[in-house]
Order: sequence, then structure tokens, then C-alpha cells
Amino acid sequence: MERRAFLKFCAASATAAGSPALAADARPHLYARVRLVGENGDPLRAKSIPANRNLIFQYPYASTPCFLLNLGRPAKASALLKTADGKPYEWRGGVGAQRSIVAYSAICAHKLTYPTRDISFISFRAEKTRGNRHAHVIHCCSEHSQYDPAEGGRVLAGPAPQPLAAILLEWDSSKDEIHAVGTLGGEMFNEFFAKYEFRLALDNGGAPKRPVSGNAVVTELENYCKQQVKC
Ligand code: FES
Repeated sequence: MERRAFLKFCAASATAAGSPALAADARPHLYARVRLVGENGDPLRAKSIPANRNLIFQYPYASTPCFLLNLGRPAKASALLKTADGKPYEWRGGVGAQRSIVAYSAICAHKLTYPTRDISFISFRAEKTRGNRHAHVIHCCSEHSQYDPAEGGRVLAGPAPQPLAAILLEWDSSKDEIHAVGTLGGEMFNEFFAKYEFRLALDNGGAPKRPVSGNAVVTELENYCKQQVKC
């Protein structure tokens, strides 16, 4: 989302919050504005992001993984989505010159499966497979929840009670750089920290809730984790 559009969106959300009819809307949750960089530390250019690849970065906390995807086609604003507790919200589409770049929390909205350094049961699939009747989905192999990254992470199949939380992106068209600025939808970070407290502390130097600031390094999922389970 370009900065101007994003600010307009926040202003619209704030205005809507004053209306009794829309008071229950899920509003964007803003965190630190973080620049996405490659593994070499250079800013990631939107045009350099390969299509249909699983890229991963940590945001808004050191231990919370997110997918960054270039869908290879425009991802337009979605119809109204809803959190598990019934709060409606509107996802505003992808960013970049083609509006094809999107990001989502990689924590499954069902039982919080997430990619670790050892193994990942959840990933983006460009192709249909035997257990995957939809192409271009984020598929969690734990209980087969499937999400549509071109439509705000809405649930296509499986037991997930709500879409994946979207990561709000800003695209600087003059530099072709991307920043993460917040989340939209049902983020599940508190449940995630509670469920995996011990493991997250071990994996993150005892500080899994450290907010990410400055830059966030974007990595190919296959470099990030040793084994990907495909179902
Ligand atoms: S944890 Fe992902 S489908 Fe159950």
C-alpha cells in the first residue's frame, strides 16, 4: 500500500471508529516502520522479488515469521473479511508496480503452526498437488487450512476460523523499496507467545518479544528452514 493511500486508509478507519455502526471494525495495528532488506543487507527492490517463491522475514517481533510473496499478478482489494470474533475489515491489496507483492503472518490461524529453523508445515504453493486442490494458496499441512494470499489471506479450506493476519506494506515507488508498518486482521501473537514460550525463548536468545526495528532481513524459506513438509 502506498504511504498516501495507507494514511488515508488509517484516517478512514479512525473516522469509521467514531461511527456506532462500524465501531467493531478490526483496525490496523501499527508497529515500527521496518525496511525489508536482502540477505546482503541491501534494500530489497520490489522488482527483484521473484514470483511464486516463499520468502520469509520476522515482523513485528524477532520470533514472529511472515511470508513475503510476489504473486506474479495484481492482488486487488478484497471483499470484507472477518476475524474469528466477528470484526470486519477490508484488505487493500498488494503493493509494488504490479500490486503483486503481499505479506502475511506465517502463523496458522488454526493452531498456530509456523515455520521453524528445522521444519515448516506451512508454505505458499503455486501449483495444485494431490492434497492441494487450489493453486496459489498458503497451505498448512497440520490440518490442511488453506488461505488465499491474493484475497487478504481469506480461508479457502480447512478448520482455520479466520484469515491469516495481513502484514501492512508500504511501497516507495521512487526507490522501489518496501517497508512493513503493521498488521491487519486477527493477529495471534499473544497466543503464539503463550503456546511456544519455551521454544521461542531458546530460539531467540531469551527475547522472543523483542520488537523488530530498522531493517528486516528477507530470506528464501528453503534457506531459512532445513525441511519443508509438502502435503
Ligand atoms: S494448525 Fe494449521 S491447519 Fe491446524
